Amino acid sequence: MWNSTKITQLLGIDYPILQGPMGAGFFTTALLASVSNAGGLGSFGAYTLSPEEILEADKKIKEATNKPYNINLWVNDVDAALVNYPPEKLERIKQLFKPYFDELGVPLPDLSTDIPSKFEKQVEALFEIKPAVFSFIFGIPSKEILNESRRLGIKTVGAATTLDEALALEEAKVDAIVAAGFEAGGHRPSFLRPAQDSFTGLFTLLQQIKAKTNTPIIAAGGIADAKGIVAALTLGADAVQIGTAFLATDESGATPLHRQMLFSDESNHTTISKSLTGRMGRMIHNRISQNIAFETEVLPFPLQTKLIAPLKVAALAQGKTEMISFWSGQNTSSLKYHSANELMHALITETGNLIV
Ligand SMILES: Cc1cc2nc3c(=O)[nH]c(=O)nc-3n(C[C@H](O)[C@H](O)[C@H](O)COP(=O)(O)O)c2cc1C
Repeated sequence: MWNSTKITQLLGIDYPILQGPMGAGFFTTALLASVSNAGGLGSFGAYTLSPEEILEADKKIKEATNKPYNINLWVNDVDAALVNYPPEKLERIKQLFKPYFDELGVPLPDLSTDIPSKFEKQVEALFEIKPAVFSFIFGIPSKEILNESRRLGIKTVGAATTLDEALALEEAKVDAIVAAGFEAGGHRPSFLRPAQDSFTGLFTLLQQIKAKTNTPIIAAGGIADAKGIVAALTLGADAVQIGTAFLATDESGATPLHRQMLFSDESNHTTISKSLTGRMGRMIHNRISQNIAFETEVLPFPLQTKLIAPLKVAALAQGKTEMISFWSGQNTSSLKYHSANELMHALITETGNLIV
């Protein structure tokens, strides 16, 4: 049976299909429940939320599904550079973005560099909730956190963008490793080397990790249909994690405009930029992502997000789509489904048809 793998057994799910966690407003209970209720693993991307917000959202999740699901957090959620950030530098970088604010007729925002990490407190909420799975990116939680997860029966899943990161995750005894290919939408969650020095495509990364580790592997990046699932399983993955194809469905938290962009030809050209948040991520190429080149100085994460937020609101209100960046993975050419239920159903049936 194609759908019985180390991951389905480990996580107690029917199909080795995981909905990629998506934080910062892209998560919805409806999307999580569609995937978990269909036998996959739905995910709650919670990294921007307070512990209280996480507990509140979890009540709604429990009303929508009684199946296993995943809560995802960012181990490193504030760049070290933000500590004692020089005010002159903050002002200088803000001024780099002034022409865009002027163009939209909005003032530059006042910004405070006092942004504490939320991670440890979020983990306390997660331990109260005890989801089936705790997945994380941008690092490895402390031994204490990993031990406590084990004690509570929560499976841990870390993400690797290089073989070295996968080896570090295996050393920490996580239950599964996400091989995060360069094709993937959203942030590049590297934590050992800089993200720009960790550009491995999924097919290579998967085989590198398979050759050197024994931990079950979840393949992520550029998988959007049954053929992609079969390819990943053939190369040694025990499950797949799909982001962009779920982001494009009506159940996701993406705006209608964002979903429309994902289905348009424009999404065939994606680019890597730090412009949106201060950390490198993949988004649809447009005027703003081109102008704010990778080399352009930006504020540390998550301060850049706070700088860009009012610009995004104004650009949306004025219909200036070339001034907004839209997250997207590289592979949008096989996007077909607007309903998460239909997407899950097609992935399950068509993968079964391909593997006889
Ligand atoms: C808008 C967006 C937000 C994301 N946010 C997170 C996140 O908070 N945590 C995480 O582990 N992965 C995040 N990801 C990555 C996805 O979970 C998934 O691994 C990735 O999208 C898979 O590649 P694909 O987009 O090519 O399918 C995000 C992806 C997107 C597109």
